[in-house]
Amino acid sequence: MSATSDKIRVVVVDDTAETRETIRKLLQFENDIDVVGMGRNGREGVQLAHEMRPNVVLMDINMPDMDGIAATRAIVKDVPTAQIVIVSVQQDTDYLRQAMLAGARDFLSKPPSADELINTIRRLGLASKEQELATVRVPVTPGTSNGASPTALGKILVCYSPKGGSGKTTLAVNLAVALQGEDRKVCVVDANTQFGDVGVFFNLKGKTSLVTAVQQVDEVDESAIASWMAAHASGVKVLLGSQSPEDSELITAAPLKRLLLELRHHFTYVVVDVASILRDLELAMMDAADRVLVVAGPDIPTLANVKKYFDLCEKLEYSKDKPVLVVNKMDKRWGITSQSIEESLKHPVYGQIAYDDRVATQAINAGVPFVMGDRKAGPSTSIIELAAKLRADFAPKDPAGKPAEKRKSIFSR
Ligand SMILES: Nc1ncnc2c1ncn2[C@@H]1O[C@H](COP(=O)(O)OP(=O)(O)O)[C@@H](O)[C@H]1O
Ligand SMILES: [Mg+2]
Repeated sequence: MSATSDKIRVVVVDDTAETRETIRKLLQFENDIDVVGMGRNGREGVQLAHEMRPNVVLMDINMPDMDGIAATRAIVKDVPTAQIVIVSVQQDTDYLRQAMLAGARDFLSKPPSADELINTIRRLGLASKEQELATVRVPVTPGTSNGASPTALGKILVCYSPKGGSGKTTLAVNLAVALQGEDRKVCVVDANTQFGDVGVFFNLKGKTSLVTAVQQVDEVDESAIASWMAAHASGVKVLLGSQSPEDSELITAAPLKRLLLELRHHFTYVVVDVASILRDLELAMMDAADRVLVVAGPDIPTLANVKKYFDLCEKLEYSKDKPVLVVNKMDKRWGITSQSIEESLKHPVYGQIAYDDRVATQAINAGVPFVMGDRKAGPSTSIIELAAKLRADFAPKDPAGKPAEKRKSIFSR
């Protein structure tokens, strides 16, 4: 691919000569990586980024003159394709959060291991090069508010499972972070209306929630969205679930569906976490969805119910590519393969997520989606791959105004 044929240009910004040298030495034998500049403080970093247009900037936080956070903010504005990685000591968590808000894409603790450093540079370098290509091909037009092309509407991805505990929320939050990018705005809507826990997974709290948004659906605009949604350090915006189960009664199907459709004008991807039941509410969201990611553990009872759900999708005359199967918690030990699942369900496995209970549980307890923390872990790479596949799926332009889906009266509503 031509995006990778050139070397990844890297700028290192750190006030300690020793750190700069260590990093340069770690990278010197990598044929695809080129350290094109080293700065001693934020100001030099900004200047170097302006001149060298790096793909990746390795940025320290505490530096004299201009710190890493201010420098990150400036570079993100000046060179939007540059991906900034904070390289910092562990104690800097608060600063780290600020750096993420300023637009940093990742962080490594100091001193980084060679593997970690090189893998992070390769991954972000590739993303940067893809963005460089995209910028040449599709110039960003002012007035586009969802980060997608001027006319394209964002995509609605509903995470559903016939069985609770399958990993809907795990998928929703991690997929959202994996999809989020410089040129892609992503929000998560916690529409598990009674017992939503997206806020826990993101360690976010807020007073406004889906209840407010649904009630004010006639007033959707950028400022309303900013007031309803909580901002996560990854850049993902989060519409938190209702604060108590009884509030969920205030959320009704028609306005909720309208809200999701409206959000497509403001986000490239609208990721929706829903409950494991099928009521008017869930079906209305599925009607609006571009994809329903059907999350299932690799166990026979769940897969049998997934089969029933796919049958329902057919009766509802959903397009064939709307419901896609994502098998979560995959492990050789279970003795079930994606091939055997495909054979028994007569439905392709769209994505599979590796089982790792340590990674999954630690992420929830820390309130940091694992794709941000341990990107090399099995479940992280699975979800990053899934995000890439979805993006590729949506890359060709959808014909505007898809035919409305007919509903047969299966559920009285
Ligand atoms: N890939 C995985 N490997 C191991 N455990 C997982 C994985 N995905 C999810 N889990 C665990 O399964 C449980 C349920 O996940 P959750 O996302 O809350 O499911 P749901 O939203 O469908 O109810 C959580 O304890 C989570 O840590
Ligand atoms: Mg959940």
